[in-house]
Amino acid sequence: MSAKEIRPAGGKLGILTPGMGAVATTFIAGVELARRGMGQPIGSLTQMGHIRLGKRTEKRSPMIKDFVPLAEMDQIVFGGWDIFEDNAYDAAVKAGVLPLAQLDGARDFLEGIHPMKAVFDQRYVKKLSGTHVKEGENWMDLAEQLRQDIRTFKEKNGCDRLVMVWCASTEIFLKKGDVHASVEALEKAMRENDDQIAPSMCYAYAAIMEGVPFANGAPNLTVDFPAIVELAKREGVPIAGKDFKTGQTLMKTILAPGFKARMIGLSGWFSTNIRGNRDGEVLDDPESFKTKEESKLSVLDSILQPELYPTLYKDLYHKVRINYYPPRGDNKEGWDNIDIFGWMGMPMQIKVDFLCRDSILAAPIVLDLALFMDMAHRAGMSGIQEWLSFYFKSPQAAEGLYPEHDLFIQLMKMKNNLRHLMGEDLITHLGTEYYD
Ligand SMILES: NC(=O)c1ccc[n+]([C@@H]2O[C@H](COP(=O)([O-])OP(=O)(O)OC[C@H]3O[C@@H](n4cnc5c(N)ncnc54)[C@H](O)[C@@H]3O)[C@@H](O)[C@H]2O)c1
Repeated sequence: MSAKEIRPAGGKLGILTPGMGAVATTFIAGVELARRGMGQPIGSLTQMGHIRLGKRTEKRSPMIKDFVPLAEMDQIVFGGWDIFEDNAYDAAVKAGVLPLAQLDGARDFLEGIHPMKAVFDQRYVKKLSGTHVKEGENWMDLAEQLRQDIRTFKEKNGCDRLVMVWCASTEIFLKKGDVHASVEALEKAMRENDDQIAPSMCYAYAAIMEGVPFANGAPNLTVDFPAIVELAKREGVPIAGKDFKTGQTLMKTILAPGFKARMIGLSGWFSTNIRGNRDGEVLDDPESFKTKEESKLSVLDSILQPELYPTLYKDLYHKVRINYYPPRGDNKEGWDNIDIFGWMGMPMQIKVDFLCRDSILAAPIVLDLALFMDMAHRAGMSGIQEWLSFYFKSPQAAEGLYPEHDLFIQLMKMKNNLRHLMGEDLITHLGTEYYD
């Protein structure tokens, strides 16, 4: 198999985040602390993961970052937008994810990162209001302003390339409609200020038009509709989404494939959690919660395939609740009660109590996505990057194709994509060659 041609990763890579809240600042602080030798990028596959190549007897398992041509952490510069003016240090202190003693190790660096004025409209995130916001005649005008921000940032920072990862709040639930059906319809709707266009779509549109790959960390529609897919293909830009896979959903996609593998039945799965961060406050609004709920609920159905296994999964009752509870800050607690049944239908229960720090699980995802999306772009890949499903709660897939939710299949898929890119044999796990 021959390797794909991939442009080298030289020069500076700018990572732009719409939203500079808990996730974005934990990511930025962590990268800088790691660069200063003051912490380890734990949870990041690009920084810590190995990949097996060839037969097991060959004992070739390089680190992923030595195998594929990724940008190094030292090449990264950061920028972003927020509706609040706080610099990255102040925002990180407010978010309260990393302790002050640790944040102070990168304080000078973080204080130098100031968000640009956001494209924002409170109709789409009811619980927030901020003043650091652009004014414009319509969505297209606002997208043009974002395009100018992108060009200015690139020039000022001497970047060779940029990627954008959406780390801003969850917007209200929007359904795909006519305005999302083609690039022409989308651009018309943006010029006419249609309310089926959301701020996140302006960022995505601006990024793609500037040749900047875009990954969506929230469950918003953003890049998950035909017009944007068409635009990304036309402009030769990779897109991916949606909703970082962390916390309770990560646990679900670890546990559910195990139950299914052993043909264990499920009659109920109740997930509830308390969280007190800004994200929790935003999700306290039923319309933002609905966007999140759709994203979280789809996971089990796709993994368990009740249509193929009606005896085991047809009657599963799946409920997801999120409760805003300020005393906990970013330190969420998530409870899962799982009602399973086995041989002769005998019921059993599993209880999971996950004392989780969401942003600690999300930060390495932002890093990996940025580095892989940049590489994909250099490899000439464009449109939906389904091989990055591993990182998302609701992986975006081609129209009419159901997404793959099983974490372990997603990992295999991602690694095989990397092998394929580099011209290595794919690993099928057949293993007969060791016994012939
Ligand atoms: N923490 C996780 O593990 C996790 C997992 C999956 C998805 N997410 C999603 O990632 C996003 C970020 O999470 P967080 O915990 O950092 O939230 P956060 O509230 O701390 O940060 C979001 C930031 O985005 C800003 N913002 C809102 N709308 C904006 C806009 N239009 N333009 C620019 N900035 C805007 C807000 O002011 C805020 O500072 C949320 O949508 C969340 O649902 C987080």
